[in-house]
Amino acid sequence: MWRVKPLDAILATAQKKSLHRSLGLFQLTLLGIGGIIGTGIFVLTAEAAQKAGPGMLISFIIAGFVCAVAALCYSELAAMVPVSGSAYTYSYAVMGEFIAWLVGWALILEYAVAASAVAVGWSGYLVGLLENSVGVVIPAALANGPYAGGVINLPAVIIAAAVTGLLVVGTTESATVNAVLVAIKVTALTLFIILALPLMKEENFAPFAPLGTPGIIGAAASIFFAYVGFDAVSTAAEETKNPQRNVPLALIGSLVICTIFYILVASGAIGAYGAQPLFAADGVTHLAPGSRALADQCASIAAGAQQPLVCSKEALAHVLREIGYPSIGNLLGLAAFLALPSVILMMVYGQTRLFFVMSRDGLLPAVLSKVHPKFKTPHVVTMVTGVGVMVAAAFFPVGSLADISNSGTLFAFLAVSITVVLLRIREPNRHRPFRAPLVWIVAPVAGIGCIVLFMFLPPAAKLVFPVWSGIGLLVYFAYGFRNSHVGRGVVDVPELDADAPPTEAQAIGAPKD
Ligand code: ALA
Repeated sequence: MWRVKPLDAILATAQKKSLHRSLGLFQLTLLGIGGIIGTGIFVLTAEAAQKAGPGMLISFIIAGFVCAVAALCYSELAAMVPVSGSAYTYSYAVMGEFIAWLVGWALILEYAVAASAVAVGWSGYLVGLLENSVGVVIPAALANGPYAGGVINLPAVIIAAAVTGLLVVGTTESATVNAVLVAIKVTALTLFIILALPLMKEENFAPFAPLGTPGIIGAAASIFFAYVGFDAVSTAAEETKNPQRNVPLALIGSLVICTIFYILVASGAIGAYGAQPLFAADGVTHLAPGSRALADQCASIAAGAQQPLVCSKEALAHVLREIGYPSIGNLLGLAAFLALPSVILMMVYGQTRLFFVMSRDGLLPAVLSKVHPKFKTPHVVTMVTGVGVMVAAAFFPVGSLADISNSGTLFAFLAVSITVVLLRIREPNRHRPFRAPLVWIVAPVAGIGCIVLFMFLPPAAKLVFPVWSGIGLLVYFAYGFRNSHVGRGVVDVPELDADAPPTEAQAIGAPKD
């Protein structure tokens, strides 16, 4: 189970594939921003406030920092091994099949559960938009899971089903559509900043950390979700002009741009409206975000009275409405409504591509990598993923889904930070188009950062991860261990197969110049 897929075989795949290199730095950065900005900033700002109060500003910085150092490690591997499967593939070559399997299994949490979280976030914006702009009220029972006294989150299920359907028939986002949606998101956030920052009041920042340092780090562990998605850039490495320069620049560039936006948006929300957490009636017991107790507490606030930020399912639109810009709040809601589905699409897409690679490696049944004769899409994995995403979105709260997704992502980032160091030790002379600067500091900092954030996730998310990994182990020993192509001596180059579905960069319709 420690067998590796030789790096040279993986590289041979990449070289033979020789896809047209058409993505430039600008498009690549837009791809990163398109994957990053989503439910995290638009929705989870409220959850971060419930965990940290105004101190969530620091949480945004901590989470951004951990992502930035992890992104440097990612960049080194992505520029060196520019093939599909990102962290899973790198681990397969360096740490062996068993770890690679665990990483791939954890990435299911990163992609599929993240897609569910974004679907639930989208649902909150849809409900708010319909109510505030056209007065249509979707019954609470159909817009919430049981966690908030509802039955099912129907809008979230519908959007997840729609995205799955689009991916089954092979509709993927074109580079132009991505650029337009990024423009919409960035415009919405810029408007928010312009309107909210001038209304900042110093007193809204006090008390700054009502739940202390643990609250701030806990919120960082959750708001980490807002930065996930930048690995979309690494998966496009093989389609990038001058990847040595452009992949790392786009990874870091998209992260830096988003971090600046996030800090300004969070400052605006805190300063203009306030972001103090809610406590139970005793004034001491902290209410967990997404809990029934918090939902009840929010519901008990008299109609007509101002709902605190932490109660809102559409945090940014809510702030704008409450600080005197109701129509612009609705416009921001419309922007989220339009743009969030593309984040779901990217996540489900990433998931199907990962399943595809794992199945082609023999670690998952071959039926999963069946390609539809007409649509040329891996329709079986797409549908399996879609159903999973729908079920999770139907019944779980956005914050818990984001936390569970983070647990998987943090594990994958940890694996990447270890892989990069192991490879430097074992193969110091291998050609590295991009070298992570100060790797002996950066990689351990990234690894430790991931472990610390993981430790500060809520107990449920910390529990789901080992349970999920345990299920993964059972699946591995029941199937993958015996069927692995590497184990059977077949070092195949799956990406060369004529029927392989397109890579992410092909799928986003990179213009062929
Ligand atoms: N970073 C992405 C989001 O916040 C996953 O929606």
